Amino acid sequence: MYKIKITIIGSGNVGAYCASFLAKKDIVNEIILIDVKENISEGKSLDISQMIPLVGSNTKVHGYTNDYSPSINSEIIVITCGIPRKKGMSRDDLVNINGNIISIVVKEVINLSPNAKFIIVSNPLDIMTYVSYIKSNISSSRIVGMAGILDSARYRFFLSKKIGVSPIDIQSLLLGGHGDTMVPLYRYTSVSGIPIKEFISEIDNDQIIYKTRKGGEELVNYLGTSAWFAPSVSIVNMIESILKDSKRIFSCSSFLNGEYGVSDIFLGVPVILGKDGVDKIIELKLNDNEMKLFHKSAKHVKNIIKKLNIK
Ligand code: NAI
Ligand code: 2OP
Repeated sequence: MYKIKITIIGSGNVGAYCASFLAKKDIVNEIILIDVKENISEGKSLDISQMIPLVGSNTKVHGYTNDYSPSINSEIIVITCGIPRKKGMSRDDLVNINGNIISIVVKEVINLSPNAKFIIVSNPLDIMTYVSYIKSNISSSRIVGMAGILDSARYRFFLSKKIGVSPIDIQSLLLGGHGDTMVPLYRYTSVSGIPIKEFISEIDNDQIIYKTRKGGEELVNYLGTSAWFAPSVSIVNMIESILKDSKRIFSCSSFLNGEYGVSDIFLGVPVILGKDGVDKIIELKLNDNEMKLFHKSAKHVKNIIKKLNIK
């Protein structure tokens, strides 16, 4: 019988919560957790396995230390390994330390699962997604970075508080890089189909966008490390769309080959996510200001790529 296996590399805050949330959904047969840190994957997978009878799931969860062989024939590989930022650090400060880790890990797993789709989470996100692409040498449609869906959830939450409606009813899209250069799309935000301008002016909305841009940093300041609950659920939303071929539209860091006038980097754009990964990149008709911000974000990502010094 065909079994769906998902491998998560990195059993830290994001990897472990992602595994537990995914296990609870009972949509995959097996989850493999792998980490370089001795026994952490074994312990967390055992704890999640003991949760399974309580939540009514049949998913098996197994953990391994520095052994990639159990990941063989994974449908999806989620990369959460590396270092999160600490107070006072930017995501970009992690570029070479995480770049080297991801480069090694991707080379380990790709031969075992040559047909896998990859969801990259480690920061700096758009650059780590690029590193995974270069090192895996597979079709760019099979590699996406998770960020836009999280940034959009943060925006929906802050906006819902401001205008007094349920966050469930807010639809939004944020483009560009995961960080201070993310591109808000006021024109594409709505509440149950009603344009956002009926609820809030663009100037007031800019304050919400500012809060969203700084959303990750606010959490680092509280926690001393970066967030994991909302990021993990964002990853599981992407996994579900791929596995079920739901063709949901999320903003994901995707390889651009001329779309939006940008080439050879990964950047957040709306994509249709299906069984083969990115089914299609949706090219919106951005206005001059939106396009300017998008290109500024692309330039920022290109500048960080120039700092890459990895094996
Ligand atoms: P964490 O420190 O809790 O977990 C990272 C895990 O990676 C640790 O258990 C560590 O032992 C492991 N690791 C390090 N080197 C490894 C290697 N060579 N092979 C296998 N495992 C290795 O960090 P957390 O909070 O889980 O964050 C993970 C990454 O995800 C960070 O880079 C963080 O910045 C990023 N992140 C990205 C988000 C996004 O929106 N894209 C959201 C939240 C976190
Ligand atoms: C965040 O935005 C750490 O990038 C991660 O929370």
